[in-house]
Amino acid sequence: MIEPKRKAPSSTVTGEILGTVSTKRRKPEPTAIVIFGALGDLSGRKLAPALYNLMVDQSLTDPTVIIGVSRGTMSSPQAFAEQLKPRVAEFSRQKLDPAAWEKFASMLDFVGGEFSDDATFVALKARLDAAKAKGTNGNRVFYLSVPPSVFPLILEKLEKHKLIDRAVQKPGTPGCRVIVEKPFGRDLASARQLNEMIGKYQDESQIYRIDHYLGKETVQNILVLRFGNSIFEPLWNRNHVEFVEITAAETIGIEGRGSFYEQTGVVRDIIQNHLLQVMSLVTMEVPASFAADDIRDEKSQVLRSVRPLTLNDVANHCVRGQYRTYREEQGVPEESQTPTFAAMRFMIDSWRWQGVPFYLRAGKKLAERLTEVSIHFKSVPLVLFKEEAAGSVLQPAVLTLRIQPHEGISLRFVAKVPGENINVGNVIMEMTYADAFNRPIAEAYERLLLDCMRGDATLFNRRDSVDRAWELIQPVLQVWEATPGVHIYEDGSGGPPAADEMMGREGFSWRELLPAK
Ligand code: BG6
Repeated sequence: MIEPKRKAPSSTVTGEILGTVSTKRRKPEPTAIVIFGALGDLSGRKLAPALYNLMVDQSLTDPTVIIGVSRGTMSSPQAFAEQLKPRVAEFSRQKLDPAAWEKFASMLDFVGGEFSDDATFVALKARLDAAKAKGTNGNRVFYLSVPPSVFPLILEKLEKHKLIDRAVQKPGTPGCRVIVEKPFGRDLASARQLNEMIGKYQDESQIYRIDHYLGKETVQNILVLRFGNSIFEPLWNRNHVEFVEITAAETIGIEGRGSFYEQTGVVRDIIQNHLLQVMSLVTMEVPASFAADDIRDEKSQVLRSVRPLTLNDVANHCVRGQYRTYREEQGVPEESQTPTFAAMRFMIDSWRWQGVPFYLRAGKKLAERLTEVSIHFKSVPLVLFKEEAAGSVLQPAVLTLRIQPHEGISLRFVAKVPGENINVGNVIMEMTYADAFNRPIAEAYERLLLDCMRGDATLFNRRDSVDRAWELIQPVLQVWEATPGVHIYEDGSGGPPAADEMMGREGFSWRELLPAK
């Protein structure tokens, strides 16, 4: 078989913007956004740059007020702005422009103090009242960018000081919403407790559980690709799909977050949320509409159809790995068994997917940074040109949804190599967003913050699907935490060979991870 050369894809299609499929995007109401943990890493790396970009793109409505709340004695908005400026300069998608920064800095406010201290919330209330007087009309979003252990304390104080009230969100009334960061619990029991606890303070329509993967353009495009084209849907089932592979490979390690990662591991960090969410978008049925609950109903439904893993499945269809230098990281014990790599197989008991294996793989310190979904189609039933193509094995078609990097879609299929003989070769048809639409791709947090301000929960996780995702990975966590057996893999490799063997036993192989040249 003649193989095409692998190179960074460039598009062979041109995009034409046809308008929005869903409802017309409206601008958010003027809003006060309160960030708890405002001096933390997420705030500087993702939230502030996202809000800055939204402001530059004129996606926010004046007045939008951003109030940071953090422990410590710092109290002035100017000091807060000074802290954020270098982070925004480093992580913003768009270059920091002095005039734009001035405007952004004027939107910032800050409250410093302990979360257990009523005085912090008295000060916050004063800031929120001032924002309301400016024109935010009581619309407020509370972003809990703090460990889940602090949620109860903050919510209790917010309620005590009448900053939140539990009510079904209705159009035309001031929005009061809470954004909760992952990890949403650390197992099924703690996630349920957390849901119960938050549910005491906020109605489900006020709770925005964030999974930033759902804000990625390429993840959203899964639905448009599937339901905006008639050519894929007839093939999107057990009759035509052999197996599906979903990979989230990173080249970075744990980036100094040793003690956090020891509590988390790759299954909680990536598979329970990001990868199961992507899998649900790939496998869900056609929703009744693009409305938040119609989409979330179908995602939840397909997760309910995922077959629970048995102990036998965990032993035979799940592999854990740890990169060789992980135990040298700060905060990691010498005998740590925490997986930094996991591969597992899920089956879905539904008419559409019965018998089709879904292989999920995620890991750190791997050879290549790559997140993608590959739909491997079945082989042709009969090779007609066997003689002519002697010696070559016809490879089935693969449709790859590249979530990152080189965001796009590619289709691999076989074609005749020009010449008098019938030689066959693989060809790859590529589409990349950058070339097709010539538009910058917004960061996931930009989209998600904007949607929350608009009161659109489509891209946020509903309680039932978070619960189900924990149920699904619970057996893996239980077995792996009770028994040692992590496979060590080399930094910068393709992961532990045991993961390849697991796929190999079923006659398949993972997409190879190649180091960047
Ligand atoms: C986060 C994880 O949710 O996702 C990190 O906690 C991981 O460990 C990150 O590095 C990956 O996100 P992205 O958008 O870079 O793929």
